[in-house]
Amino acid sequence: MPTNKSDQDRLLEHNYDGIQEYDNPMPRWWVWIFWASILFAVVYGLDPWHVLRGPGRIAEYDAAMAAAARAFPPPAAGGNAATLDALGRNPQAMAAGKQVFVTNCAPCHRPDGGGLIGPNLTDDYWIHGGTVTDVHRTITQGVLDKGMPNWGKVLKPEQIDDVAVYVFFGLHHTNPPNPKAPQGEKVERPE
Ligand code: HEC
Repeated sequence: MPTNKSDQDRLLEHNYDGIQEYDNPMPRWWVWIFWASILFAVVYGLDPWHVLRGPGRIAEYDAAMAAAARAFPPPAAGGNAATLDALGRNPQAMAAGKQVFVTNCAPCHRPDGGGLIGPNLTDDYWIHGGTVTDVHRTITQGVLDKGMPNWGKVLKPEQIDDVAVYVFFGLHHTNPPNPKAPQGEKVERPE
């Protein structure tokens, strides 16, 4: 029960199950902040810096993706013939390529390249072209429906270069025992 007359006067009319209340308005500064935050939310939701101005989110996303594609181009399928020829005479590149081959390719092509699930890589016969750039392109893109992975997604560009020259120059005519039968077209090349 209110203890004095003025408290009694401040009580609002209604009475719910014996519960009565005062009319206590929020302080003016609080009400101002309340309305100001609602106004700010509307302005912020419209995002004048990004929605009303500028190209818009989708165009900005496309531009960012295009910039990233320029900054990180996918490994060029086929590589550069002159670079690959030079790498073929570089013992370090050949050793690195052999390492990549033994780790990644041997399960399907055998450690000596004689062929198992994948074709023999030591003979003169090629299904997908018998130049060093053809081999580089096959390794980069793979032959997915035949079970040859696309190594461009897995290996670094220089690893692809190294393994391509190792296959093309290092394995050629190594005559491993029990090779897989030739597949594809015969491609002659000067020794
Ligand atoms: C999962 C098995 C598998 C692995 C691992 C694999 N290959 Fe192959 N590869 C194949 C198959 C299968 C083919 C034959 C594709 C076809 O018949 O068209 C092939 C074909 C190729 C060819 C083309 C041969 C031709 O006659 O044109 C090259 C070159 C080659 N692989 C290199 C590699 C290299 C290098 C690696 C390792 C980085 C590798 N492969 C790893 C299964 C594999």
